Amino acid sequence: MSFFELIKKRHSTRSFQKKPVDKVSLDKILTAAESAPSAGNLNAYEITVVKDEGQKKSLSEAALGQTSVALASIVLVFSAVAGKSTCKYAKRGELYSIQDATIACSYAQLAAADLNLGSVWVGAFNEAEVSVAAKLKPGSRPIALLPIGHP
Ligand SMILES: Cc1cc2nc3c(=O)[nH]c(=O)nc-3n(C[C@H](O)[C@H](O)[C@H](O)COP(=O)(O)O)c2cc1C
Repeated sequence: MSFFELIKKRHSTRSFQKKPVDKVSLDKILTAAESAPSAGNLNAYEITVVKDEGQKKSLSEAALGQTSVALASIVLVFSAVAGKSTCKYAKRGELYSIQDATIACSYAQLAAADLNLGSVWVGAFNEAEVSVAAKLKPGSRPIALLPIGHP
C-alpha cells in the first residue's frame, strides 16, 4: 500500500471486536510513534499503554463516557512532558511538547491503519481524571487517547 493509499484508508473506528492486538503489532505501532520528529529531538512526550479492563473503563469515564475507549483492545495515552523541552526552549518548550505528543499520535494512528487495525483520536476528556486512570507521572499532561483494536 502506498503512503497515499494509507492516508485515504485511515478513518476513525469507534467500535472494536473483542480480539486482542498482538504484541508484534503493538511494538510496530510504538516504533512508528517513536520515529516521529520532535523539537530538538528531545521527545518531550510519553506514551502509556493501557490494556487493563478496569483502567480502560476509568479512562472511558474520564473521556465523558466514550465507549470506544472501553471497547478497544489497547488505549495509548499520549502525554506532553513540557519539562523535557522547557529546559532547552523555555516557555516555547511547552508548545513543543504538545506538538511532539500530537505528531507521535498521528504516526501511531497511521501505523495502526497499515496493520488493518482501527483507531480513533480521542481529545475530549478530563485531564485530571485521565492522569489518575493512566497513572501518569507528575509533569505529564495527557494530550490524546488512542483506542486501538480490530474494527
Ligand atoms: C484533536 C482531535 C480530537 C478528537 N476528539 C475526538 C473525541 O473525543 N471523540 C471521537 O470520537 N473522535 C474524536 N476525534 C476524531 C474526529 O472526530 C475525526 O477524526 C473526524 O471526524 C474525521 O473523521 P475520520 O477520522 O474518520 O477521517 C478527534 C480528532 C482530533 C484530531
